[in-house]
Amino acid sequence: MSEGLTAEQEMIRDAARTFAQEIVAPRAAEIDRTHDFPADLVRRAAQLDLMGIIVPEEYGGTALGHLAFAVYVEEVAAVSGALAVILDVHSSVGTEPIVDWGSDEQKRRYLPRLAAGEMLGAFALTEPESGSDAASLQTTAERVGDRYVLNGTKTFITNVGVADLYIVMARTGGPGARGISAFLVEKGMKGLGFGQPMHKMGLHGSPTGEILLDDVEVPEENRLGPEGAGFKVAMKALDSGRIGISAQAVGLARGALDLAVEYAKQRVQFGQPIIQFEGIQFMIADMATAVDAARLMTWDAAAACDAAEPFTLLASMAKLFATDTAMTVTTDAVQIFGGYGYIKEFPVERFMRDAKATQIYEGTNQIQRIVIARELLRGD
Ligand code: CAA
Repeated sequence: MSEGLTAEQEMIRDAARTFAQEIVAPRAAEIDRTHDFPADLVRRAAQLDLMGIIVPEEYGGTALGHLAFAVYVEEVAAVSGALAVILDVHSSVGTEPIVDWGSDEQKRRYLPRLAAGEMLGAFALTEPESGSDAASLQTTAERVGDRYVLNGTKTFITNVGVADLYIVMARTGGPGARGISAFLVEKGMKGLGFGQPMHKMGLHGSPTGEILLDDVEVPEENRLGPEGAGFKVAMKALDSGRIGISAQAVGLARGALDLAVEYAKQRVQFGQPIIQFEGIQFMIADMATAVDAARLMTWDAAAACDAAEPFTLLASMAKLFATDTAMTVTTDAVQIFGGYGYIKEFPVERFMRDAKATQIYEGTNQIQRIVIARELLRGD
């Protein structure tokens, strides 16, 4: 692991590593097999103060920042990609927009409970007909007196059904980005429903699915940010969310690399452990180099975010590189395990299935290239 962390960041890394290795790791395969949401592990994370790292202290968080957050998400992802994305989405896109855009009243009402893990957060932007082209979303929020009435369908929502608070983007004005506003929608509000859980390739145990909004009445005080600012709320959330996904990808890659090295030391073929063969050594060398580079890019974006410097470019570059690294490294880990890598009795195939999602969600890697190119062309 690269050096350069502060004492506080090291403390978070150590606490998260102990939690991950001792409590989460023994459960990871079972969560993958049963698809059960690991509510008890989320509670343990909350008890360890891991759910309010991005929340200011005055609202009950630890305010340790995005680099500490990346360090923590990596540790969890190194043993369970599913728990990592549950916790990541809660903090980054599910909580941080309230830190950035919330009124004092909204912050007081929600942040302490989100930081304590009494509420789980979620983020609802995507719709069946609006994925990469997020500004084309069709869910409506019609103003009626001092309320908004929300109608539409959101899909591919992480933490669906188990989350208590959903940051929902809906159209209050004309077409395009400027017609969108953000809303804080609580579980239990009349008209809010959930579709059947989706059966995903990986990340089992992290529920994903549809949110159905059928005349959901949301009071005006639950609008997050000004009317028409919802697209910016979403884009800013995703900038920082992409740091979390990068960290998740680094963790998945590191976890698979560690397993592959361990296996290659044990597995004897042609009279010696296969780690003695240059073909395997070169694979492992490339994997370790890519993991380290991905981590440094992730930390670079996180540090820029913590320093309140522009970080859209760095976050998209980190997301692109780290998630492609996760896919390559986990695939190579399966290759090193050979036939054993392809069966579910060994954990590496889970890492490979989990890694695939990271190239897709919070903006596909094709969208990251668009963001990177636009930032470069803007030139400031
Ligand atoms: N921060 C703040 N504002 C931003 C911004 C940013 N990073 N990026 C764009 N904006 C603003 C622009 O300045 C512009 O504002 P003005 O109207 O005032 O000029 C406005 O938003 C519109 O911007 P664009 O013209 O660039 O918008 P676009 O329609 O061309 O789309 C896009 C840009 C980058 C392609 C965007 O649609 C995008 O990121 N798409 C991918 C969506 C995505 O990541 N979805 C993931 C779903 S969530 C998820 O996966 C979570 C999970 O559960 C794991």
